[in-house]
Amino acid sequence: MKVLIVGGGGREHAIAWKAAQSKKVDKLYCAPGNAGIAEAAECVDIGVMDFDKLIAFAKEKEIDLTVVAPDDPLAAGAVDAFEAAGLRVFGPRKNAAIIEGSKAFSKDLMKKYNIPTAAYETFDSPKAALSYVETADMPIVLKADGLALGKGVLICQTREEAKEGVKTLMLDKQFGSAGDRIVVEEFLTGREVSVLSFVDGRTVKVMTSAQDHKRAGDGDKGLNTGGMGTFSPSPFYTKEIDEFCQKNIFQPTVDAMRAEGREFKGIIFFGLMLTPKGPKVLEYNARFGDPETQVVLPRMKNDIIDLFEACIDQTLDQVELEFEDNAAVCVVLASEGYPEHYEKGYVISGLEKFKENPGYYVFHAGSKWNEKGQMVTNGGRVLGVTAVGKDLKEARANAYKAADWVEFGNKYMRHDIGKAIDEV
Ligand code: AMP
Ligand code: GLY
Repeated sequence: MKVLIVGGGGREHAIAWKAAQSKKVDKLYCAPGNAGIAEAAECVDIGVMDFDKLIAFAKEKEIDLTVVAPDDPLAAGAVDAFEAAGLRVFGPRKNAAIIEGSKAFSKDLMKKYNIPTAAYETFDSPKAALSYVETADMPIVLKADGLALGKGVLICQTREEAKEGVKTLMLDKQFGSAGDRIVVEEFLTGREVSVLSFVDGRTVKVMTSAQDHKRAGDGDKGLNTGGMGTFSPSPFYTKEIDEFCQKNIFQPTVDAMRAEGREFKGIIFFGLMLTPKGPKVLEYNARFGDPETQVVLPRMKNDIIDLFEACIDQTLDQVELEFEDNAAVCVVLASEGYPEHYEKGYVISGLEKFKENPGYYVFHAGSKWNEKGQMVTNGGRVLGVTAVGKDLKEARANAYKAADWVEFGNKYMRHDIGKAIDEV
């Protein structure tokens, strides 16, 4: 089989690495890919939003299966475009990807179908939003309705911050038209857990749990980022909680989407808060998480191509998802200054160690080959270093050991990824 993966970050590297192990795959392409992905797949210089070129490429190369990984092309209808061209493709159609693309949509869906989530109000007018926060309880959470690179969420401790926040999103348009409409929601407390699942329109099969660390600095200080590290499984996601979520969140969400005429096929990523009153949905994503994928896939026993096909063919009920009884930790190596200003172009060394040591993986997010043939930094998040271990503590020690193998200019990482496991 010939397979094309659309995307070019750490998540896509993990997907490509896993797909390359499939017995079914003869040839793997990735568009646009990156310097690390090039080891697992042939990279093709086509952007993720260039549907016409992607489709022309898939036809020319007779691609048997395309996997669309990032949120933007999914929300913009990449899957619909591939299907219209008669091509086999994995991912939700545009009318289903809205579960991530519009927070107002997903909140209304949860309310209508009694899926536990934070109480909320939606506003199209800055004036109405301002008058609402004037009397609402603090802290409060403001969310831009549309996609904002995971950064359109403001947690406001005081009324002043909340009013400032409404201005930032709706008047200054810091996230563009994503902030034309906002969701204002109750602040929840508890442990956050990411649960990724395969969905075939009817059946949902959850992968193992994970936890992300979104803030830039140790102790969850600093700005929100795309994710600075992850661990899997989450020790807080117990069997009882899983049973509750299966019954009250996962299956009801899939059923709700079908009832709305928006059958969802692909990955649903449930961002959950384990509150004192039980698990509640913080957000849905219509795709694999980054960097959750970098800890979940190294633990998955199944052939990932089987799962993509089962979702498309609606035979997921016949598949048993299996994970290793171990743990994994991913530490993101970023450029100092991320997520704001940072320099690029520093030579990366130490990567050969990963080839010599099984159980250690380096997934590239922002790297490239320069004209001298050196691997250099090319982004805010540069690499995700993942290691497995028999338990979370061992995996964490291994991941930090491997993080020290790698050197590049302005290398920055958090030192407390997985610290929460010490509290268990
Ligand atoms: P989201 O993109 O909706 O996942 O929000 C980004 C982050 O903001 C989440 O991972 C949480 O850490 C935080 N967050 C979102 N909604 C809430 C909420 N209602 N209460 C507390 N924290 C929240
Ligand atoms: N790690 C969070 C996300 O992928 O949205």
